[in-house]
Amino acid sequence: QSKEANIFFLFGATGDLARRKLYPALYNLYKKQQPFAVIGLARRPHNHQSFRDLVADSIQDFVAQDTDLTDFLDTFYYHPLDVNNLEAFVSLKDLSDKVDRKFNLQGNRVFYLSLAPRLFKQVTGNLKKAGLTHDNGWKRLIIEKPFGHDLESGTELNESLHAVFKESEIYRIDHYLGKEMIQNIQVVRFANPIFESVWNNRYISNIQITLSEQLGVGERASYYDQTGALLDMIQNHMLQLVSLTAMEPPSRFATEDIRDEKVKVLKSLRLFNSDEVKEHVVRGQYEDGTMSNGESVIGYKKEENIDPESKTETYVAARLFIDNYRWAGVPFYIRTGKRLAERSAQITVQFKDVPKNPYFYNFNELSSNLLTIHIQPDEGISLKLNAKRYSQESDTIPVKMKFCNNCEGKPDAATAYERLIEDCINGDSTNFIRWDEVAFSWTFVDAIAKAWREENIPLETYPAGSMGPKASDDLLAKEGFHWWDISKVDKN
Ligand code: BG6
Repeated sequence: QSKEANIFFLFGATGDLARRKLYPALYNLYKKQQPFAVIGLARRPHNHQSFRDLVADSIQDFVAQDTDLTDFLDTFYYHPLDVNNLEAFVSLKDLSDKVDRKFNLQGNRVFYLSLAPRLFKQVTGNLKKAGLTHDNGWKRLIIEKPFGHDLESGTELNESLHAVFKESEIYRIDHYLGKEMIQNIQVVRFANPIFESVWNNRYISNIQITLSEQLGVGERASYYDQTGALLDMIQNHMLQLVSLTAMEPPSRFATEDIRDEKVKVLKSLRLFNSDEVKEHVVRGQYEDGTMSNGESVIGYKKEENIDPESKTETYVAARLFIDNYRWAGVPFYIRTGKRLAERSAQITVQFKDVPKNPYFYNFNELSSNLLTIHIQPDEGISLKLNAKRYSQESDTIPVKMKFCNNCEGKPDAATAYERLIEDCINGDSTNFIRWDEVAFSWTFVDAIAKAWREENIPLETYPAGSMGPKASDDLLAKEGFHWWDISKVDKN
């Protein structure tokens, strides 16, 4: 891949995401000879040196002891900035011109907004006014979710961005799209005729996607209590996984062709009225409980800075209908939650059972064929089959075929942020979200949020450390299914 020189403008440079994810990612890119300079921007007073110390501190766990970081840190500059102050943007332009000349960065600019979305409009507007968005070279904007809180606010936000950046210059990050096994979904599906030929309603009985977390709300109470699992996880990560799992093969493996196919899935999602929300969507909130390591944890309403009367959901499960030719009749079950029994992300495809035939094997003992894409913590694929039990007559047992990228220790794989930042620098927006994907995701999610707001739909509870409310099991049981709990490649 070509390595385009650029200045990386990081708004929110002293924030948590920058320190935990972005500086380590930038360090790895630097090691891959990516030419860039970084200008850190935030309100806090820092000079270049104290900022470099902060960056060094953030990456210390990722570098071998005694590594000389001088050259890397020399590319970091700091500019204190209040986003409302146009003057500060004007002086930022001076600094960026100097840095550009010093490192020969050809006027190329990445603006990474690790900020609250309510500030996006102000920032992009001031970038333009200060002349930072029209020079030689390319300009790209990276933004983090939430892209609004419903379709209307998302559209408004989008229009304000489009006043400064073209759609092709906007890189909406969903860090799940940078994960190794999520990038592998298309390869597994489209490079293996044995899977793609059965990837439809003739052979698949249902598909289950689980994104479960052990962590609670942590220190993000004020954001999370306003947001909840529907907006925090379903609107973005989960619907992205649904579209990658269900999409048609694109006519070419090119950015817009892939995105076109993903959008078609989102367009085919059945929009629920309030009765359907009651029937097909479960929302839950965790109560006191015990985690698998024996730790007792408090319920959501008792967490610091959470409204003790809060009705915010920390868990959502739903049965989705994809009303198209390939998927008619196949339930897509999704679930996500905090304070669940384990941290895992996986997609499990359950195939239809063999025809019932009394002269055949004892089909009651046959297990369903399952293909699982393990996203985290294990990264791999497993396929559960039936086989004859060794040396016993006509007795069957389930067996597994599997591969695992990381089960035997951590491979030196790039992190999600590293991959995505590199893609952006190379002008590849395939693994970023196009606006119409956001819009259709909001349309689906808004219908659920509306029903929750307006109707008397119960908020279920579940003990922390469990796998969610019982209503979530009932959702599948109604159709004769149950959740497969296959977080580990090796688990049977
Ligand atoms: C974020 C959500 O987008 O994804 C968090 O805002 C969640 O609430 C996180 O914890 C999960 O990401 P990962 O990579 O740890 O699975």
